[in-house]
Amino acid sequence: MNDTSANPLRPNFRAQPFWNPTHIPAHEVGQPIARMDLNECPFPPSPKVIAAITAAASGLNRYPDGTCPALTEVLSKRLDIPAEQLCYGGGSTQLLTSIAEISVAPGDELLSPELIWRRFSGVFNVVAANHVSVPNRPDGGIDIEPLLAAISKNTRLLVVLTPNNPTGMMLSQAELVRLAEQTPDNVLLFIDEAYFEFAAHAGGADAVEILKNRKGPWVVTRTFSKAYALAGLRLGYAVCSSEEIANALRLVTSTFNLTGVAEAAVLAALDDTDYTNMILSTNAVERERISRGLQQQGFSPMPSVTNFVGVDVGKPAGRVVAEMRERGVRIATFGFESAGSCIRVSTGTAEDTDAFLAALPQAIAAI
Ligand SMILES: Cc1ncc(COP(=O)(O)O)c(C=O)c1O
Repeated sequence: MNDTSANPLRPNFRAQPFWNPTHIPAHEVGQPIARMDLNECPFPPSPKVIAAITAAASGLNRYPDGTCPALTEVLSKRLDIPAEQLCYGGGSTQLLTSIAEISVAPGDELLSPELIWRRFSGVFNVVAANHVSVPNRPDGGIDIEPLLAAISKNTRLLVVLTPNNPTGMMLSQAELVRLAEQTPDNVLLFIDEAYFEFAAHAGGADAVEILKNRKGPWVVTRTFSKAYALAGLRLGYAVCSSEEIANALRLVTSTFNLTGVAEAAVLAALDDTDYTNMILSTNAVERERISRGLQQQGFSPMPSVTNFVGVDVGKPAGRVVAEMRERGVRIATFGFESAGSCIRVSTGTAEDTDAFLAALPQAIAAI
């Protein structure tokens, strides 16, 4: 019975652990906690969004139209992209896996920078790809030239996040143009822009606008989880360079992966620009307070434009996270051995920032 060939699972799925990032242990339930580990929005959705959700709830007896026709009409106009080239996922997380599935067969090469959101290791595992990762620059930024140089004849997919998670740093317009122009036409260039709205608020580039000029295939994903305060609703979208790519994604994401309530909520959120602007400007204030506080404690936080800050605190990150949790503040590690003393702290309310800055020196002293 120990013969693993009798296991019907594909080899890359056998005996895999599963880590649930939202799990709250029983002893923490009901305890006051600063939730600064998942890059969530600390504010509830806008009142207009909640009203739209309530109104849409009466239609829940019907299957939704997963092509989100009303939302597609709005996004198509805003982005100046044909409607057929837009598709949706249960959060952009679902799309990340689907993008790998439509492009990479087992043994094909998939290329990315080394510092990348830890969820991607699960994505890469699904397709059993040969994952080639290229070291980031010493400052944590994505090193574009070595990344382009690492493209081989076997590369099918190039994955780049801007702004990147866990560093919070974004690529410049020139770097994105270089990626768009130099990635060969037989490689799918995938840009994850989950933090796009924060980057735009900080004056950053727009990958969709840049990639429109690319000859080869591309996909950009964005989400309503962050700047629109809708992480619990699960709706993200992909902007694709062709209907063929969007249809391939639609095939693997399934027809009924979304809810009509989510589409109604997102339409209301896109309309409530005052509320989104409040979220973006409050976030910028707290991000700055976190960064300045870290500097005052002698650290050098990475120059984030997002709703989180990465910083090397010089102590094993897992231990720092555990000590902070003991003190009622949840933060995250970078999720990589090679970034072993780097932590990632999400922006929250002003009180969350205070709690984080007060607890950090104690946590570090306890190690
Ligand atoms: C880089 C990146 N991409 C995608 C996501 C997933 O967002 P969603 O809630 O749309 O699945 C996250 C969430 O933290 C992220 O950091």
